[in-house]
Amino acid sequence: MKNKVFIPVLSLATVLLLVFSCHTEKRITETGLVTQKAMTVSAHPLASEVGTAIMQRGGNAVDAAIAVHMALAVVYPQAGNIGGGGFFVIREKDGIYHSLDFREKSPLLSDRDMFLDEEGKPLPEKSQNGHLAAGVPGAVDGMVKAYEKFGSLPWEELIQPAIELAENGFVLTSEEADYFTRVSQNLKKYSTVDPVQFSGKSWHQGDTLIQNQLASTLKRIRDFGRDGFYKGPVAEFILAEMERGNGIITQEDLDTYESSWRQPLLGSYKQYDIITMGPPSSGGIILLQMLGILENYKVSNRGKKYADYLHLKTEMERRIYADRAEYMADADYYPVPVEQLLDKDYLAERFADFDPKRATPSDGINAGSVLALSEETTHFSIVDPLGNAVACTTTLNGGMGSKVVVDGAGFILNNEMDDFSIKPGFPNMFGVLGGEANKIEPGKRMLSSMTPTIIEKDGKLFMVVGTPGGSTIPTSVFQTVVNVIEFDMGMQEAVNEERFHSQWKPDVISYEKEFSELKILDDLKKRGHVLNERSAIGRVDGILMRDDGSMEGGADTRGMDTAVGF
Ligand code: GLY
Repeated sequence: MKNKVFIPVLSLATVLLLVFSCHTEKRITETGLVTQKAMTVSAHPLASEVGTAIMQRGGNAVDAAIAVHMALAVVYPQAGNIGGGGFFVIREKDGIYHSLDFREKSPLLSDRDMFLDEEGKPLPEKSQNGHLAAGVPGAVDGMVKAYEKFGSLPWEELIQPAIELAENGFVLTSEEADYFTRVSQNLKKYSTVDPVQFSGKSWHQGDTLIQNQLASTLKRIRDFGRDGFYKGPVAEFILAEMERGNGIITQEDLDTYESSWRQPLLGSYKQYDIITMGPPSSGGIILLQMLGILENYKVSNRGKKYADYLHLKTEMERRIYADRAEYMADADYYPVPVEQLLDKDYLAERFADFDPKRATPSDGINAGSVLALSEETTHFSIVDPLGNAVACTTTLNGGMGSKVVVDGAGFILNNEMDDFSIKPGFPNMFGVLGGEANKIEPGKRMLSSMTPTIIEKDGKLFMVVGTPGGSTIPTSVFQTVVNVIEFDMGMQEAVNEERFHSQWKPDVISYEKEFSELKILDDLKKRGHVLNERSAIGRVDGILMRDDGSMEGGADTRGMDTAVGF
């Protein structure tokens, strides 16, 4: 059936307030969109409009999440996807929690040394680009599973908005035009057939991007559900692409792929309950470990105390990311010691050598190694009029994934194989190290950092939050949560706040280049930290429930992220 996408009349409204609160004496703070009933916050305004329109038609948060996921595959193809995978964390209105793991899997023909040359030297070019880099996509199976459990509107109505966006196209901003012009040569290089829908021209602001092949694929998913992707013509396009590009995904991989309902990871911080993603993501464990340590300290974002907080945070991060490298992986394949990693005594012991005045050097620093800048996952947060909430983080891994556009099917394949440890001790594209636990095994899921999170306060829905950013994801979620809970910020203000990241190795604190408070940077340097200026860290999209029953969206101004609600 055909539906016209309904665009809600409420648009992004912001109120500027001058307040005296933080480490800078006067800060301009911003209140995000405030609505009474429902909201979608995502990386693209058109996707946020799709999600909220679904809820205006009576759909619930999961209906909206499916529609947003599909819309992002069209309007935000650098990370939105049907050729990748991700996680849903869901809180039903009455406080029942679920998490859905639709992370990609390693193909059945994969093996642990597939990205090593004959001398055992790692081949990151192959784990990051081209056909071998792709894991078996999980997104479509995940959307179907979510729909079977929670869907309320007809399935076709959830897919139709994405079809229309692909078929009719959407108008590019100048940033999008620059981005597509920049990446189209790489898409051409790694795809076996020139994807002219992207590479056929140099893009300009106001151009319309039309994706007819993708529209046909989405129509098959609309009409045949799971089989529309994993069987029939779309599966044939994937297999033909694999054959032409020497990839290893087979029909058996497509037939046997299954997303999984898993127990969400639960933890607490003061009077807040945290519902987040467990393995195969490391994100939830890292977030709960950091909050578990933070609970023993009083932190402030004023003056020198802000440097104290950043020092404390960095010292936590170096210890916790060392745990990540050693212990975290797909728990179906490796016994991840989750309880022990979150045990308060373990965390206290782990932090016993913390020196508030001095940085503890991480051993074996890779001098000069810096974080990769391509961290193109995407996150969206949704609350529906009944109070159901969905936090979804979904990914192709790097921007445009493997850069392989499946000819005939028009979608981009992920490069998630690089999230495995391709050789113990060799850093992946985010600079994080992995060990034996996260080695490649057929059918296994690669370790993720994605941290879709829902927080309750005194048993009631309080916050829905998450972000892209590769290995920086858990620390960006942590900072946003701390900004709200400890530093009394609203959602938009917490999202706007500058971010810092550190991850054991490389032994540096990365900070966003807009951060100009030299005194704080000097203070950190004096304690022995190495500072590394970089571009934006993460793109956090969150929703905060307010005491009066309304909700505030925090849409990250680092991107085109937009809150739409009613
Ligand atoms: N591909 C990014 C992540 O899963 O952490």
